[in-house]
Amino acid sequence: MPKVHINGKEIEVAEGTRLIDAFLQNQEEIAHYCYHPGLSVAGVCRLCMVEIEGNPRPQIACNTIVQDGMKVTNKSESIKESVKWVLDFHLINHPLDCPICDQAGECELQEQYMKFGQYDPEMGERKVKKRKVVDLGSKIVLDTERCILCSRCVRFTDEVTKTKELGIFNRGDHAEIGTFEDKPLNNNYAVNTVDICPVGALTSKDFRFKQRVWYLQDKETICPGCSTGCSVKAYYNEKGYFRLKPAFNEDNNGYWMCDEGRALYRHANKEERLLQAQVKADDGSSHMAPGAATKKLAAEIQGLDKQKVAVVVTGQYTNEEYDQLISEWLKPAAIQQVYHWKNKEDEWGDFDGLLLRRDRNPNSKGLQDRLQKASLVNDWSQLEKNLEAGQVDCLVVIGPEIQAYYDDMQDKLKLFQKAKKVIWLSSNPVENLVADYHIPMKTYLEKDGTFVNYSGKEQKIQKMQNIVSQALSLSDFAYLIAGKEIPLTGAAS
Ligand code: SF4
Ligand code: SF4
Ligand code: FES
Repeated sequence: MPKVHINGKEIEVAEGTRLIDAFLQNQEEIAHYCYHPGLSVAGVCRLCMVEIEGNPRPQIACNTIVQDGMKVTNKSESIKESVKWVLDFHLINHPLDCPICDQAGECELQEQYMKFGQYDPEMGERKVKKRKVVDLGSKIVLDTERCILCSRCVRFTDEVTKTKELGIFNRGDHAEIGTFEDKPLNNNYAVNTVDICPVGALTSKDFRFKQRVWYLQDKETICPGCSTGCSVKAYYNEKGYFRLKPAFNEDNNGYWMCDEGRALYRHANKEERLLQAQVKADDGSSHMAPGAATKKLAAEIQGLDKQKVAVVVTGQYTNEEYDQLISEWLKPAAIQQVYHWKNKEDEWGDFDGLLLRRDRNPNSKGLQDRLQKASLVNDWSQLEKNLEAGQVDCLVVIGPEIQAYYDDMQDKLKLFQKAKKVIWLSSNPVENLVADYHIPMKTYLEKDGTFVNYSGKEQKIQKMQNIVSQALSLSDFAYLIAGKEIPLTGAAS
């Protein structure tokens, strides 16, 4: 392993490490815009200047591989001066937009100016005006004035999605980012360009002007949008959830996530949620607290023939919840009729070549394993037969959290109507649902637990904040339906 001195400290790095990564891995600050570890090296911003002992001229650290014995610094006066004036060049034509720019608060231009710039500008020329609010498609807006031409977005569409929508057009101070022949930037990974844009040149239509980033906190979790299980960060405050961004996960998603997955914070917000349990009564339907409704249901189920109680489960809950469901309710109550409702069964293994998988459930594997261990695997056709024959007195549907991915939802609703009593569990209202009980559930952003992705990797989700405080986890439901109280601690919720 080569040894290198960085700002006077000797460190060991892996063979082939870039100097810039040696700095970053050792918490040494180094200015940079164009370098991104998930893309090829462009070396265009010239900010990552370093002095290498024995080398008469400053070098860029992103395009230099560490050699054994190198002595490198970016703390010398001449390097500090170079970085300062390179920053000045970047800012010559940059507009003074910060008060209205969506990137403020997480802008690398602001941050790097404060760390490495702080010069008195010496440029007397007027700023070149360029196009603002350029529509790049359904998801992204471009402000060409703010762009510093780092080319990260171009490299992303060239190298990662290979869709090649973006390019740099014109020359000199008239150079600007744009799309070829106005082909919109609408691919399913397009918003990653917004994440990697170091300035406010690319902004997401979904997020812009909704919140200042300093009013948001974030936590890492797992996207529930498909069985890939990308690591993501959810951003939220007391008003709700505002956006998801990818979090680096070497095995799964690298630095990226898909745009479909990015939308999976909206259904967790209050305006889209089922807030109270809906219980069918003789004179219409009434609203109840979810816990009270489940207790009432438990009393009704007590008297039923358990052979005629069926449970339909989807792969959108955590391992811990399935475990509690089985151990607290299904096993003690000797309920055998348990069925796994899969979406897009025929496309189980389909993959878009980048991240997205057609099994649009985060935990099909976890569910399958648990049903198998508990000997609760039944053929779906058996449920259909029992329903047709009027043999199901009560059907409990542990419904999908992300309903949009269940193309067969309306067909299944019709099928399930054949049960004498239908109980539906879900975080959100369901179109055309006719149920005796509809119980509100927590979303993936409101509970801790484990998902198992397509490859069998266990990954943790974590609770951020409750939006519907009374909503139940599946574990809570399992206790209540079994006639027990929810334990104050120890329950996976
Ligand atoms: S739009 Fe952003 S990512 Fe693209 S070249 Fe300009 S600054 Fe870089
Ligand atoms: S690929 Fe799947 S897990 Fe990853 S962000 Fe998209 S929907 Fe979510
Ligand atoms: S980060 Fe090295 S030249 Fe841009």
